[in-house]
Amino acid sequence: MLKKRPITDSIFYIGVNDRQKHKFENMLPLPHGVSYNSYLIEDEKIAIIDSVDSCFGDLFIDKIRSIAGTRPVDYLIINHMEPDHSGSIRLLRSYFPHITLVGNNKTLDMVKGYYGICDNTLEVKDGDTLTLGRHTLQFHLTPMVHWPETMMTFDQTDHVLFAGDGFGCFGTLDGGITDEQMDTEKYWDEMVRYYANIVGKYGMPVQKALQKLSGLPIQTICSTHGPVWHKQIARVVDMYDKLSRYEPLHQGVVIVYGSMYGHTEQMAETVAQGLAEAGQRHIVMHNVSTSDASDILRDIFKYKGLVIGCPTYSNELYPAVDALLKKIETRGIKNRLFGCFGSYSWAGVAVKRLTAFAGQMHWETVCPSPEEKQAMQPAEYEQCLQLGEQMAARL
Ligand code: FEO
Repeated sequence: MLKKRPITDSIFYIGVNDRQKHKFENMLPLPHGVSYNSYLIEDEKIAIIDSVDSCFGDLFIDKIRSIAGTRPVDYLIINHMEPDHSGSIRLLRSYFPHITLVGNNKTLDMVKGYYGICDNTLEVKDGDTLTLGRHTLQFHLTPMVHWPETMMTFDQTDHVLFAGDGFGCFGTLDGGITDEQMDTEKYWDEMVRYYANIVGKYGMPVQKALQKLSGLPIQTICSTHGPVWHKQIARVVDMYDKLSRYEPLHQGVVIVYGSMYGHTEQMAETVAQGLAEAGQRHIVMHNVSTSDASDILRDIFKYKGLVIGCPTYSNELYPAVDALLKKIETRGIKNRLFGCFGSYSWAGVAVKRLTAFAGQMHWETVCPSPEEKQAMQPAEYEQCLQLGEQMAARL
């Protein structure tokens, strides 16, 4: 009943859309859903590349049957063990008892740990190949994109790279599968948000993976999330290259602030005014108490300028800002032009902490940091305007 969704004449899409989950990894909002992509190679042997979240097992099996019919599946190539992709392993083994699970030594260790499976496995090493008949697959270990066992599989026959989480993004596939079959505009921001939040800590491993893959004649990228990339491969790879070097995608500014009663918010508004009056047109503001942290991180990865401000709270930073700094630190975000401002009612700590944080991150601070006691006075108003102007001048 189900029609085949071909990527090439013998590689088929068998992934699913998740429009039900509210938060990916129980943390990251999914306003546009997410796809769990899986692929089937039909040859003398049948191979599946990665599986799907266990919630979609029945549909997954139907999709496999629509292509393979009554033939057994010979191999499951496991590029990545996170359960959004490995969750159907037990189900696959129940339908196809002789299926061989293919992965590297770290993969197979996780297969045992997560699912208690030790038999019918094939360990592969970096550069090993597996022939299915007409198709030959080559395995490229790409650790920490996104877990230590992650690898990518290159189909040398059709020049398709099965990239695991690499080059993936949030967002369901709404009809089309390949980038030629859709308007891809809605995916770019979700690719940055996906990268910033999930892969963002692993810039160096991503760079190593990009170098390793650079010699392959890739014509199609099949990620485990989001569109299959064909005509826009250059843009996707360029984005991953920039993001993994912590190079901003735009010369704009993100202003992130915390505010309890609006006084610190007025400082943020004034910094934005200074930026706009100095000609900056790309200004994104986030109230840390209402914006989701995943959106804030996305924009910090996107933009060159970063301004953070908050009140002093219990002789510490405002807690939501403190939590954000921890996320930035974890990801080791480099090379940002920084400005900060803060406020207090009786003892000022916020500006000191924000300044120290910038030093720890080796960011350049563009000008002295305004600090207000209780409410903004004319002097702080001018300093906030100047912060915006100075930041604009540096971008
Ligand atoms: Fe989509 Fe790292 O799993």
